[in-house]
Amino acid sequence: MSQTNTSAAGAATAASSLELKDARTDKAYALTLLERGTEGDEAVRAADLRQVKTAPDDFGLLSYDPAFMNTASCKSAITFIDGDKGILRYRGYPIEQLAEQSTFLEVAYLLRHGELPSQDEYFRWVHDITYHTYVHENIARFLAGFRHDAHPMAMLTSALAALSSFYPQAKDIFDPEQRYISIIRLLAKTPTIAAMIYRHMKGLPVVYPDNSLPYGENYLSMVARMSEPRYEANPVFAKALDVLLILHADHEQNCSTSAVRAVGSSHVDPFSAVAAGVAALYGPLHGGANEAVLNMIEQIGHPSNVPAFIEEVKGGKGSRLMGFGHRVYKSYDPRAKIVKQLAYQVFEQVGMDKDLEIALKLEEAALNDEYFIQRKLYPNVDFYTGLIYRSMAFPTSYFTVLFAMGRMAGWLAQWEEMLLDKEQKIARPRQIYVGPAERAYQTKLSDFQPDMRKDSIRK
Ligand code: CMC
Repeated sequence: MSQTNTSAAGAATAASSLELKDARTDKAYALTLLERGTEGDEAVRAADLRQVKTAPDDFGLLSYDPAFMNTASCKSAITFIDGDKGILRYRGYPIEQLAEQSTFLEVAYLLRHGELPSQDEYFRWVHDITYHTYVHENIARFLAGFRHDAHPMAMLTSALAALSSFYPQAKDIFDPEQRYISIIRLLAKTPTIAAMIYRHMKGLPVVYPDNSLPYGENYLSMVARMSEPRYEANPVFAKALDVLLILHADHEQNCSTSAVRAVGSSHVDPFSAVAAGVAALYGPLHGGANEAVLNMIEQIGHPSNVPAFIEEVKGGKGSRLMGFGHRVYKSYDPRAKIVKQLAYQVFEQVGMDKDLEIALKLEEAALNDEYFIQRKLYPNVDFYTGLIYRSMAFPTSYFTVLFAMGRMAGWLAQWEEMLLDKEQKIARPRQIYVGPAERAYQTKLSDFQPDMRKDSIRK
């Protein structure tokens, strides 16, 4: 395939199309290039391949791309990543600047609206979110039905899906006001539910929101308050939490965001769509990696065991080096750099994490090892977050809930962008069928009688 310089192959103009020559038929096709993305990305429409046929009744050529390694599923104006250069921007703003100068709620506004809020816009946004922090009492009862050792991500997935039943009007997804209030409700209630889950795990009574507190402090109060009339969060913890929420807020078309978009494309309500996102995030290859990193570090046990562990990973027998590698980043994840600095600020409050040395040694060993260098495997955002969360006394299994609290902002912005995108339809990939060709039915059951199906348990 080469870039076309002549117009011989069809209507597409030179330099805006690619010529495709089918060696089977000797026919040439012009594949129109889409308008370049802001950063110069170019693409062809996969559907244009359908014109490539060997016979008139041929279905046409499909593109095959398991795991979407090279397929853009949408055009998006929300987040930009340059994986080779380690760049992450929300709506054009570098993540480093947002982490240092912004707040999570301002970033959530930016992700949804595309611009930073004015003072009035920000007041309204914060007011509306704060006003909706309470959840229906039945949500607390619903959570009480879980076993004390239920995984917090299973509880979060279920509780967010259950919220859908409290707001049937949220199904009206093409009403801008319904979309707005659903987004507000999800940003407001997720921390409340997350805190209720924490209290359930600990067997502690629910603490209700204190709406005189800012977003992060309010959440920390619901998590940690005991008999004191008003909870004063450690300001370093509150700042660290806010920065972590910003860092996790969006990451373009990752697994959970793709899940939210795909499920949302069926026009289900947003509560159900984001519940799918939480389920996707739960997995150890995605958000669940922060939990897996800590489990791995605990399993390594001592810095002296690091070289043997690295060898095990390289041998492919043991687990992967969790918190390392990324589908898009082929250099240091910019979020991981910020998290590492943040970790030291938190450790200044509570003392050095006992396993920091293992983490540092793992990082050093991997960054200097040919296996990891060749594959461009660098620490990702999940490598150091677990150590911070543990220093703030969160249980290991709870870490991914904190990731979900931040990512909620991105899921909602991406969900709405998908809905308003005229080119989007219900997500429905094609497949390449590789099963048996048509064959006649013949039972293998010895005593099978078609009129009396014996599919009950045998006595
Ligand atoms: N440890 C050891 N080897 C690895 C790792 C790892 N963490 N990640 C990738 N590799 C190897 C892999 O075995 C393969 O080697 P080979 O070419 O010899 O078969 C090569 O690197 C390419 O890996 P891949 O599986 O094709 O890469 P991917 O883009 O499909 O996977 C990933 C990306 C994040 C799932 C993977 O790097 C991984 O499993 N990392 C550990 C889990 C983790 O930390 N996940 C959090 C990701 S960041 C937060 C988020 O956005 O969710």
